[in-house]
Amino acid sequence: MTASTLPQTPSSPRVCVVGAGKVGSTLAQRIIESNLADVVLVDVVEGLPQGVALDLLEAKGLEGHDRHIIGTNNYAETADSDIVVITAGFPRKPGMNRDDLIGTNARIVAEVARKAMEHSPNALLMTVTNPLDVMTYVARQATQLPPERVMGMAGVLDSARLQAFIAMELGVAIADVSTMVLGGHGDLMVPLPRYCTVRGIPLTEFLEGEAIARLLERTRHGGAELVKLFQKGGAYLAPASSACYMVGAILRDRSNLLPAAAYLQGEYGLKDIFIGVPCRLGKKGIEQIIELPLNDPELAALQTSANSVRENVKIALKVLSE
Ligand code: NAI
Ligand code: 2OP
Repeated sequence: MTASTLPQTPSSPRVCVVGAGKVGSTLAQRIIESNLADVVLVDVVEGLPQGVALDLLEAKGLEGHDRHIIGTNNYAETADSDIVVITAGFPRKPGMNRDDLIGTNARIVAEVARKAMEHSPNALLMTVTNPLDVMTYVARQATQLPPERVMGMAGVLDSARLQAFIAMELGVAIADVSTMVLGGHGDLMVPLPRYCTVRGIPLTEFLEGEAIARLLERTRHGGAELVKLFQKGGAYLAPASSACYMVGAILRDRSNLLPAAAYLQGEYGLKDIFIGVPCRLGKKGIEQIIELPLNDPELAALQTSANSVRENVKIALKVLSE
């Protein structure tokens, strides 16, 4: 029996992961090994998704889970997925920023989003491909889905990075640290130290302004720090954990309050844009957008980040119309 002919569990939710590269294959592993759902992994490269699926199946007895995975180059096999996660596209090389990927990745994301949704018309759609906020806009434009069914993963990752940096700095349990990072997934992201706490105690009770600024700066450049260390490709372990966390929030209908790139229709004074904001995430997708009271500098920073996302959306749409 080949990996692509394995039966699926009839009652199991199904997640289609598009892109079997580093993020996609690690996400697939996390989803099945945490017993969340069956996975159909798709890639344009022949043999790659099939190989990843087979490799993961061979670990199934050792990992002790009960989920299936298939790898395929054919979208028909992704039919009836509950969530489609798009990781297809190119990552950064050292020296590149996320926006250098706009044209190439916009074409890929528009195409794969359309193909995947054709076979899973009721699915929620989550983008991971960079530049994240722009690609989320592109995915929605290509599929014309209701906005609450489309979201982008980045704020969970950026907040997790800040959480890790604060826990390391203070030497406290990471579970006690709570963080919130809004805005576009780029150097202009908006970490909100006013909304960061340690066991409910404001971060400012533990750290001076200079130390906080240093940790925020490290968070803003968290992706670049890893691109530099890896030399080839970018981060994939924490990104896969972040996407898996969102998949879990949806499938288990946990109503988690998480930052995600969501479509704004006036919230935070912004319209017709996908950008990171706190959302309540559940089985219907973005079930609520939470409008945090922001002070003037925070609002201005969000506006600056939104301006940059808008400029890049224009570039993506222009490339797609050519
Ligand atoms: P990778 O290069 O390891 O994998 C990308 C995969 O996409 C490859 O296997 C490639 O064959 C596949 N692909 C390309 N065109 C395709 C198409 N038309 N149809 C199906 N598959 C196609 O890259 P990696 O490291 O997995 O990163 C993927 C994307 O995720 C990048 O754009 C990266 O920048 C982004 N990323 C975003 C994060 C976030 O926080 N939103 C975090 C980490 C990565
Ligand atoms: C990251 O933040 C590259 O966006 C990716 O690691």
